[in-house]
Amino acid sequence: MNGADDKPRKRTIRSFVRRSGRLTESQQRALDELWPRFGLEYSPETMDFESVFGRDAPVTLEIGFGNGDSLVRMAAANPERNYLGIEVHEPGIGHCLIGIREAGIGNLRLINHDAIEVLEQQIPPGSLDRINLYFPDPWPKKRHHKRRIVQPRFLDLCAKALIPGGTLQIATDWDNYAEHIDGTLDEAASFALGERRVHDGDQPLDRPQTKFERRGLTRGHRIHDWCFVRN
Ligand SMILES: C[S@@+](CC[C@H](N)C(=O)[O-])C[C@H]1O[C@@H](n2cnc3c(N)ncnc32)[C@H](O)[C@@H]1O
Repeated sequence: MNGADDKPRKRTIRSFVRRSGRLTESQQRALDELWPRFGLEYSPETMDFESVFGRDAPVTLEIGFGNGDSLVRMAAANPERNYLGIEVHEPGIGHCLIGIREAGIGNLRLINHDAIEVLEQQIPPGSLDRINLYFPDPWPKKRHHKRRIVQPRFLDLCAKALIPGGTLQIATDWDNYAEHIDGTLDEAASFALGERRVHDGDQPLDRPQTKFERRGLTRGHRIHDWCFVRN
């Protein structure tokens, strides 16, 4: 595997901090046994989705999938599509690999690296049909807002990776991040608003409920969902 902190980088502001978090025995075993089949190494070269998945099919990218439960459910429910998940937290990768084995699916691949660099280097332009960004770290303190992944540069990378008409799906349970997302996307010429919902966990927009969504709901948060369409 190629972890997110393997080499020094020019960019210093990141949307994540390395959490310590030990691998359980079963996560370690899943990494040893399943990573060679379902894991993709980060490399600064554009990948070829047809050879990665062994077929030509629409590709959905999920950024920051956490423990991967909702990503595995989506991939299992849509066997005709290909799924690529990016996550920097290794125990989440191990948990997701266990889910892949239990679901018996073959249409999901994982990358353990910073999604910004993967978008910059590895994703072919105009190759994605959909990008999912569910419950990104909210960085609620004002001095940390610059760490939020939704920034003009991130949107440019998403726009470059998506096919025209492809969608960027976002959800958050933080009202203040929702305002930031509304404002930033409003300024992004490459995206038009397709749909916007605010709900209590009962109207997710074309996605399963996620772990962090459940956590937000137990704190009494409302859920914001968007679908933005690539112009
Ligand atoms: C708040 S959690 C949400 C997890 C999951 N989507 C859910 O809804 O349960 C955000 C996740 O994004 C990951 N993450 C943050 N920045 C990332 C980046 N630049 N590249 C890849 N993963 C990232 C974090 O490690 C974390 O697991």
